Amino acid sequence: MGELYIGLMSGTSLDGVDAVLVDLTAGLPTLVAASTDPYSATVREALLELNRPQASLERMLELDVRLGELYAQSVERLLQSAGIAPSQVMAIGSHGQTIRHLPSDGTIHTTLQIGDPNILAQRTGITTVADFRRRDMAAGGQGAPLVPAFHHAFFHRQGENRVVVNIGGISNITILPGDSTRPVTGFDTGPGNLLLDGWAERHLREPMDEDGAWAASGEVRPALLERMLGDPFFQQPPPKSTGRDRFNLTWLDNICDGQDLEPADVAATLCALTATCITRAIRQHAPATERIIVCGGGAHNRTLMTRLAELAHPAIVEPSTAHRMAPDWVEAVAFAWLAQRTLQGKPGNLPSVTGAGHEVVLGAIYPG
Ligand SMILES: Nc1ncnc2c1ncn2[C@@H]1O[C@H](COP(=O)(O)OP(=O)(O)O)[C@@H](O)[C@H]1O
Ligand SMILES: [Mg+2]
Repeated sequence: MGELYIGLMSGTSLDGVDAVLVDLTAGLPTLVAASTDPYSATVREALLELNRPQASLERMLELDVRLGELYAQSVERLLQSAGIAPSQVMAIGSHGQTIRHLPSDGTIHTTLQIGDPNILAQRTGITTVADFRRRDMAAGGQGAPLVPAFHHAFFHRQGENRVVVNIGGISNITILPGDSTRPVTGFDTGPGNLLLDGWAERHLREPMDEDGAWAASGEVRPALLERMLGDPFFQQPPPKSTGRDRFNLTWLDNICDGQDLEPADVAATLCALTATCITRAIRQHAPATERIIVCGGGAHNRTLMTRLAELAHPAIVEPSTAHRMAPDWVEAVAFAWLAQRTLQGKPGNLPSVTGAGHEVVLGAIYPG
């Protein structure tokens, strides 16, 4: 085994933590092991509560510790399943759980990810890199998205105009021009799965619309879709990023207010919203795109993938599996890769994406 790294990703969808063990000897990753540890309903509810503006500091600290312990357990299980000792691992890159992301709204310019990295380093004995976003923000950036540098390293191909779409709770795109002299750009396009997840939770008592089956049973309501697309975020020029602070069930309830709507039609319209904001962004900023590579859990939603393919035609839409990496692991692998960049003293942000004044080495290092 060469240079082993662990990546931990727990995104806005609040589904759990994705843990990957990768070999980064050649700079580019080979996946050794991977697993998802879903959050319990209690943790998920506590995190949803924390996302509310009035949340208490004590609750935040409690969850910070609890997630630190959970992440450490995920790492221990991952290593056991792979038969690898902690001493063989160079570092863990831990994204943490975002509870605030305030890149440009109002007067506070910051973002906060919890899941105490001190606990991770202490329990596992492995050097941990965390708090990736705030250095980019300190340099004037949005602190997001951070995956584009990895998308570029892994998915770029000279001569083909590609876009990588990550559909998690929020969705973001990375534009990879086939002409390498042109800059890589990217930004958050808006909601990914988080509104549909919340809607499924409310009406189906399920954490998600499995395979998009429920959305497939409804009809897209064009007027509703237009009202959703009226949110100023969609017109805002990049750099831009967003989160649960903006797109949540309160936002959806305000848009649906007073109308007689079938829940399945709203689900269908939410799928259309995600697909439309992605394809509009691509049409506007990368009209010559030939191939769209999809990663993140949204790649499993068939209704969403079908709609994306319809709207993006004639560009090819395919899951990242076609490029040797399952959609579920791309983001966690990106944070393992970013941790390596940090230890090597190399920058991890792309100013053309985040809007930072310059490149910076991301994250804080907690020695093992
Ligand atoms: N089989 C599936 N059918 C439909 N949606 C799915 C499926 N599997 C995952 N998802 C969606 O993907 C989300 C998780 O994606 P993920 O990439 O982990 O997002 P995040 O990084 O925000 O946690 C789930 O909340 C769900 O909406
Ligand atoms: Mg997730």
